[in-house]
Amino acid sequence: MKDKTVFICQSCGSRFPKWMGRCGQCGEWNTLVEELEEEFTASEASFPASEPVLYKEIKEFPKPRIQIGIEEFNKVLGGGVVLGSVVLIGGEPGIGKSTLLLQVSRDIALQDESVLYVSGEESLEQIKIRGDRLGVRDGKLYLLAETNLERILAQAERLKPKALVVDSVQTIFSSKLTSSPGTISQVREVANQIFRFAKRSQVPSFLIGHITKEGSLAGPKSLEHMVDVVLLFEGERDHTHRILRALKNRFGPVSELAIFEMAGNGLQAVSNPSAFFLKERPKDEPGSAVICAIKGARPLLAEVQALVSSTLFTGNPRRMTIGLDHYRAAMLLALVEKKAGYSFAGEDIYINVAGGMSIEEPAADLGVVLAVVSSLKNKAIPKGMAVFGEIGLSGEVRSVGQPLARIKEAHSLGFETVLLPAGNLAQIDPKDLPSLNCLGAQNVRQALQYVF
Ligand SMILES: Nc1ncnc2c1ncn2[C@@H]1O[C@H](COP(=O)(O)OP(=O)(O)OP(=O)(O)O)[C@@H](O)[C@H]1O
Ligand SMILES: [Mg+2]
Ligand SMILES: [Zn+2]
Repeated sequence: MKDKTVFICQSCGSRFPKWMGRCGQCGEWNTLVEELEEEFTASEASFPASEPVLYKEIKEFPKPRIQIGIEEFNKVLGGGVVLGSVVLIGGEPGIGKSTLLLQVSRDIALQDESVLYVSGEESLEQIKIRGDRLGVRDGKLYLLAETNLERILAQAERLKPKALVVDSVQTIFSSKLTSSPGTISQVREVANQIFRFAKRSQVPSFLIGHITKEGSLAGPKSLEHMVDVVLLFEGERDHTHRILRALKNRFGPVSELAIFEMAGNGLQAVSNPSAFFLKERPKDEPGSAVICAIKGARPLLAEVQALVSSTLFTGNPRRMTIGLDHYRAAMLLALVEKKAGYSFAGEDIYINVAGGMSIEEPAADLGVVLAVVSSLKNKAIPKGMAVFGEIGLSGEVRSVGQPLARIKEAHSLGFETVLLPAGNLAQIDPKDLPSLNCLGAQNVRQALQYVF
């Protein structure tokens, strides 16, 4: 027998027995979401009630964690996966979510622990083809092709695995609801029941969620508050690198970030990301600047490339950016024209961060400006130089966070000179500086003088 369900308007809270396209109360469109009738939740309230406990009498105990063979994955989770935690992993179609989780499952199974990998979207044979590629062989890795939540949980209760993987939350449905899989109601109910299973059995559970290009966990977005950890798996389809980072973590910081490279035998952790993103950098080419960025909590060197070439579209030259904020780049171009006396009126300008990397932080400003001017003048930036710094609207070079980490990263990759905000240079105790040449710039004009 089905539990009774009700459709609740997410806008005004009115309740209806049937789904309608438009709320009969407030008139909003598409706001009705199916939920289980209160009676069901009320029966849960008949569990023994909890009592208030005095704060100082609560005993803290370290949460037990399991270590996964992939060290980078442990780090992003804040030091391994906590028993009984629910981890949501979101990513765009085809980015490698199933691959990552199958590798994680493989590694747990290799520790002679059982893992239940449930797929609602692929056949066992399909998963096995991938598994063969990833070198899955021995171990207690169980696969289950199933979309019914209640049946999945029954199998999980029976098997009592060390970890559960559900691929993906959008394909699983609970028979308690009439809505189709992938709807907000179903996605929430699935996550809710898996959450309870994880807590009562202490089985860490991984939910895979598809997300849209806009970056929101559509559907899964409504799960972010329910789960313990939200990880985002990103990358450019045409590039091999993938970035895994935490958006939320109840058991650790969200600053760690792991970079993987997609290869035939699966995802390989990139141990030196800066070297990875600079490896194909042309030497002594105009239009290329190396920037010291911070991704997550980690310093990362990346290459900004600019191409300035006379336009065929007089009056309406092209401006394109890849991997950088378009509006910020436009602002920087206007600023260079005004403050440094260059004119881009007859020029098409393309700016790109090499390797499919994207850099959101303003610390990239100085690198963008130098790359553009370098291309315009057809003069290379000295090859041993790395730069960072934000640029303000009056052309001043402003301090950014973690200057020393940035300088040290440049030093460790063999750079001889770092051009940085004068304010940052003044903050740093000279005896902390590694042995390389640091140039502090007050403003754009001064920075350009140092370089060209
Ligand atoms: N033989 C191969 N060699 C290298 N890379 C491969 C190979 N086969 C598949 N891949 C990579 O794996 C990616 C797909 O991985 P996976 O199926 O894990 O992604 P997913 O995020 O689970 O996708 P979906 O949204 O379809 O579930 C492909 O885009 C491709 O980059
Ligand atoms: Mg998949
Ligand atoms: Zn309403």
